[in-house]
Amino acid sequence: MIKAIAYTTLLLSCSVGFADTNCSPTAFGNNNGSIPPKSEYSGPLFQLSHNYPEKSNAGSTPWRTAIDNKPITVANANQYVEALKQYISADFRAMIANANWDPAKNGWYHAPWLSCEREAIHGMYVGSSDFDKDLFDGSGLKKDFSTYVLTMYNDVAGPTLKHVWGETAQTPTITQDSSQFAENAIVTKYAFTTANGDNWDAMQGALQWPLYITVNATTGNHKTAQLNNASLMQFDLIVKDSQSAPNTGWVFATLVYDKDAPGKDVWDKMVPLGAMWGNDPQVNSTKNPNQPLTENWINPAAPAYAKMTLGWGDRLSGPNDGGRNDAIVMVDGKKTKMDNLPSSSCMSCHGSAEWPMHSFLLPTTTNPPQSSGDYLVMWPPGSPQWMQWFQSRPGNVPQDIGTTAFDYDMVFVFKSLQAWQSATTGRPTLLQGLDRTGKPINKFKNYNGVEVDQ
Ligand code: HEC
Repeated sequence: MIKAIAYTTLLLSCSVGFADTNCSPTAFGNNNGSIPPKSEYSGPLFQLSHNYPEKSNAGSTPWRTAIDNKPITVANANQYVEALKQYISADFRAMIANANWDPAKNGWYHAPWLSCEREAIHGMYVGSSDFDKDLFDGSGLKKDFSTYVLTMYNDVAGPTLKHVWGETAQTPTITQDSSQFAENAIVTKYAFTTANGDNWDAMQGALQWPLYITVNATTGNHKTAQLNNASLMQFDLIVKDSQSAPNTGWVFATLVYDKDAPGKDVWDKMVPLGAMWGNDPQVNSTKNPNQPLTENWINPAAPAYAKMTLGWGDRLSGPNDGGRNDAIVMVDGKKTKMDNLPSSSCMSCHGSAEWPMHSFLLPTTTNPPQSSGDYLVMWPPGSPQWMQWFQSRPGNVPQDIGTTAFDYDMVFVFKSLQAWQSATTGRPTLLQGLDRTGKPINKFKNYNGVEVDQ
């Protein structure tokens, strides 16, 4: 119940970020107000790209042609993901090679209202505050780590930001139409880990970016922002494609860093971990663990560390995604602790994208989740309630009746709409201040495992 107290404190203080300054978010603000001194960092700072287009023309669709315009399958998913990666390669090589890369000029957009969470240099915010090193047992990881993430929408996805946020982002339009993405919309999200090559062999040679951050489970820095390098570990790449994926309308893919992959640069070494285009609701993986999945493909050649955190029944989930969680489950009327329980997948978690969020991201019995220490109270794996998180719904059908479905987009419902609501109505949502795994982000375990306040 300690956590419940922490939630209450958060609600009273309206805390949405973790800047050193007392930050009030603005719709199009760039950062949390902690700016690195010039003596430490003199490069460019993050600029929010928010000139969202009203309309845009979908270009070519090489990912569809790569699979002969047929539905995506376990057998052809690899070609599909490679074609998708190829399509965005020029933009992302430029970004990786060039620190002055300008998303606005290249037609990529960011979500509003997250200024108080964004660090100043790359606009990244905490994905998960503390990944236990035992999640990656055997991978050579020496310490816990935090992840920092940034989402970018391409010019076909951009109009959805315009339709919901309008010119000013003060009064969002939330309807079943405005929340939907156009065919061929592409959304990317990249995740950096604070465990660099010196603490995690798997990150040797990875792209490193300087970030100006407080939350860092690897070093235990948490009082004031400091310049820290972080390494590009995971790169999510999703596309609206109702032709290839008629059940859900989306293909979710992710690339992970593989230090041993062939190639000339870090972009070549970002290899597919897999793809999914549905949750395989017909397979109850607790009851029938060996029944094969038909809406999920995992790349057998992906690096070992990245396959340690796959989701329920080995559905796709990446090392940044919190697909495994410490859970308390009622079994035969008795509370049972399950460590690192595979309890999610990309599309299971994103399937709860609805406003307001009646269900939590994970199959927990309540929202916000009840917890004891780090353990979240969940429905029994494979139970009918649990299966609500493992359906293959179209993006305009919400998980819970009476809410507006947000076409699998989590930044809207879990991040920016909540920040907007809290800033403009003074009515913080219950989820404010939790990281994706349900942990309060202003509670922070230092590297000795001691919980400290930020
Ligand atoms: C346990 C929950 C969870 C899982 C599993 C998960 N995500 Fe997410 N994802 C989120 C949340 C929350 C956000 C929004 C906040 C943020 O940016 O981190 C998000 C944001 C994203 C975004 C930015 C656009 C959007 O929808 O908001 C993409 C793209 C994305 N995730 C792809 C993936 C892919 C691909 C996987 C699987 C490999 C995955 N996610 C697994 C919770 C999850």
